[in-house]
Amino acid sequence: MSISAAEVKKHRTKNSCWMVINNDVYDVTAFLNEHPGGEDALLKYGGKDGTQAFEDVGHSPDARELMKKFKIGSLHPQERKFYVDPCNKWKWIMLALAAAIIAGVAARRYYAPG
Ligand code: HEM
Repeated sequence: MSISAAEVKKHRTKNSCWMVINNDVYDVTAFLNEHPGGEDALLKYGGKDGTQAFEDVGHSPDARELMKKFKIGSLHPQERKFYVDPCNKWKWIMLALAAAIIAGVAARRYYAPG
């Protein structure tokens, strides 16, 4: 189901607490008093995008598995944010570096005297 950010914004209390993590919408109301990080941590991001906070804590694979239970939908495609995958970023940096080294070696050969 597609949900708007404006809709998510309405759910920011103990009675109904939704949040966005990586463009997916979670209803964590039932999880508030079970969250090992405390209900305040969740309520703080109720109605908002908690992606950064969620990732900063370094949640375990177990936590990521658990959150699937609370997923109720995804943000509208126009409202989704693009998060750079850190692994992907490194891949491109290494590729650019390799290309620069190859170009350097090729240039040296090309310009070598004789
Ligand atoms: C659907 C959303 C979330 C789920 C399912 C979830 C689940 C969990 C789980 C299972 C843990 C135990 C440690 C682990 O397994 O990593 C944890 C710890 C923690 N969470 Fe979350 N969490 C969510 C969102 C958030 C958000 C938005 C924050 C905001 C800061 C947050 C802050 C914390 C903190 C600070 C801890 C560490 C507690 C400690 O080690 O004492 N969590 N969470």
